[in-house]
Amino acid sequence: MSDFSRRLIRWQQAHGRHDLPWQRTSDPYRVWLSEIMLQQTQVATVIPYYERFLARFPTLSELAAAPVDAVMPLWAGLGYYARARNLHRCAQAVMARHGGQLPCTAAVLATLPGIGRSTANAIATFCFGAREPILDGNVKRVLCRCFGIEGFPGTATVESRLWQHAGSLLPASDSHIYIQGQMDLGATLCTRTKPRCGACPLHEICVAHREGRTGELPTPRPRKSQPERQATLLVLRRNGLTLLERRPPSGIWGGLLSLPELPALPDIPAGAAAASYIETRLGLRVLAVSLAPTFWHTFTHFRLHIQPLVCDVGATGNAGLRAAEPALLWLAADELAQAALPAPVRKILGIRKP
Ligand code: ADE
Repeated sequence: MSDFSRRLIRWQQAHGRHDLPWQRTSDPYRVWLSEIMLQQTQVATVIPYYERFLARFPTLSELAAAPVDAVMPLWAGLGYYARARNLHRCAQAVMARHGGQLPCTAAVLATLPGIGRSTANAIATFCFGAREPILDGNVKRVLCRCFGIEGFPGTATVESRLWQHAGSLLPASDSHIYIQGQMDLGATLCTRTKPRCGACPLHEICVAHREGRTGELPTPRPRKSQPERQATLLVLRRNGLTLLERRPPSGIWGGLLSLPELPALPDIPAGAAAASYIETRLGLRVLAVSLAPTFWHTFTHFRLHIQPLVCDVGATGNAGLRAAEPALLWLAADELAQAALPAPVRKILGIRKP
């Protein structure tokens, strides 16, 4: 066994995490759900979502039988909503193609929606005793530092080198402890900023530590300035209700409820454009308008500058013109708190995280 793996396994057994909710089960459905939620999201954020999800959908067949609109509210605020849509598609594929049981090999798991190579390998290793390497963001960071691997790990070349390392380091036994150790080390000690090298079981063999380069490795994404976009989101209030709009299934916040967005109209001040849009397109009369503070929301590929515009509205002669469309709905405060809303919309409406 490599020195790397031996150190990691010993450390995981003594100092790693053993009581996470998905470690108390070998139910592949639960492990799969946890791995999908943990993609890009930290453990502490995931735990309450995981518990709520399982309370509502205790089994894969119940998830598959539900409409996707029943799944999205349980994901609202967690971000990367394609994960929830793929999770639901995956449950349906497992019912249709695999008799309701998640497949037990990494190769077959990786054919399912939303399950990439690393996630497939983690599920197969945790649930079915497979011996497969993983390579998520945390593991990439640990490998780049320990072995002094240069280059942005998001490129195909560096990623392929990292897979080779990950495969060759895999121990002959205890691979479930080993991969959990990699996850735990990346999340708790070998963090992106301020790694705690003094407590790390790898510090004697770590190239980045020896050369004082933990701040440089992994090599950051080449700095391309993030594109910026602007959106005016309308908070339309009438008789204590707020107007929401369901987003189209693809694109940002796909399938979630959001606030109606004012289309960008060059050269027209937002206030005037809003009044005209609200009257002609939504069939509502603007009684009072105020601008709420703007803020930035960062997506993977761009930053969105959000201007909330708060309007009290009433009916016009053609009341409910568009407001009668199925994508639009008026919700009361208690319904808003339960609705599938993206985090920035929750923020605008002053709703705390579920
Ligand atoms: N990140 C990804 N998978 C994980 C797991 N099973 N436990 C903790 N963190 C993780």
